[in-house]
Amino acid sequence: MKTLITGAAGFIGSAYARVVLDSRPEEQLVVLDKLTYAGRRENLAEIDDRIEFVQGAIEDRDAVREAIAGCDCVVNFAAESHVDRSIDDQDAFARTHVIGTGVVLDAAREAGVQRFLQVSTDEVYGSIEEGTFTEDSPIRPSSPYSATKAGGDLLVSAHFHTYGLETVICRGSNNYGLRQYPEKLIPLTILNALAGDSIPVYGDGLQVRNWIHVEDFARAIDTVLLDGAPGEVYNAGGPVEVPNIEAVKRVLELTGRDESLIEYVRDRPGHDRRYSLSSDKVRGLGWEPRTRFTDGLVATVDWYRDNEPWWEPIRSGEYRAYYERQYGRALG
Ligand code: NAD
Ligand code: TYD
Repeated sequence: MKTLITGAAGFIGSAYARVVLDSRPEEQLVVLDKLTYAGRRENLAEIDDRIEFVQGAIEDRDAVREAIAGCDCVVNFAAESHVDRSIDDQDAFARTHVIGTGVVLDAAREAGVQRFLQVSTDEVYGSIEEGTFTEDSPIRPSSPYSATKAGGDLLVSAHFHTYGLETVICRGSNNYGLRQYPEKLIPLTILNALAGDSIPVYGDGLQVRNWIHVEDFARAIDTVLLDGAPGEVYNAGGPVEVPNIEAVKRVLELTGRDESLIEYVRDRPGHDRRYSLSSDKVRGLGWEPRTRFTDGLVATVDWYRDNEPWWEPIRSGEYRAYYERQYGRALG
């Protein structure tokens, strides 16, 4: 089997490529990635000699057609993934999630691809104060990030209904783990704590996220790719729901810092209060999460502590300017 993975120089896509090659060493992987601020070749270093890497954007028809040639499957990870950046400027989000996804769908159809998996998010359902989202819950995105991801998902469904392309969608909850860009809550907290910087907590810090370890999400995606029913959506949520302030306090404990580093800051506009995802449908295909949040967090903190050469160029590069814009103060 030959699979095109878009966006695999990022956090989850690179974990997915490793999961695939671990379980099916003979599989051929083509990676198409634009290498935005979040995409890094070194995320694929361990498997570099086992993949074909193409630098290009999913909204570039020629680049996609070239990369997809001869592929049986497509897994579309490519995305702008940070809600706060989408609030500042939505353009790249609409371009990648809507236009780009449409281009990959067209190319998949033209190339006779057998399976198209769209990687999506629980954020398309919006916020839920009580209860749990299922695949039948209405789509009510709150942020430009989630609205454009929802647009991409709807185009995927349209290509299934209109053209008969065999599509599946896998919606994950908040991921954490190795190689996540430090703009996201968990790695931001770890790196700030290691450096003794304050930790910005939005609003009252009681928003709840349903954390899933990145390797568990990667395995869920692979399960849906191989065994999901055409045209269907599958949710993959983590084993725990944790208020942000609790997650931050656990990281402080693991890094030996005290709670005086916590700094409550202005809330995110339109901030979703709680995400909660039922994974019964993907569990029905035999998947279940393997990593407990407490264990996964220890391993994640250890990885960032031991891998300064991975994050130092980020913290001293584009991220510094972003941090200053976002938090109104310099990093460090
Ligand atoms: P990431 O920001 O770490 O990586 C995104 C990758 O996509 C980068 O390598 C980037 O260079 C590439 N990319 C961006 N725009 C592109 C374009 N136009 N063409 C080609 N490549 C492009 O993101 P991530 O956290 O790994 O998220 C991957 C996918 O998983 C996204 O679709 C996201 O919506 C989804 N998702 C993420 C989470 C999460 O918690 N991070 C949860 C559920 C679903
Ligand atoms: P984030 O990691 O950005 O993921 P998402 O917005 O996709 O859920 O944020 C996780 C939660 O942490 C979310 O409720 C926003 C909150 N948060 C903070 O309190 N402070 C921060 O500096 C960041 C980046 C996020």
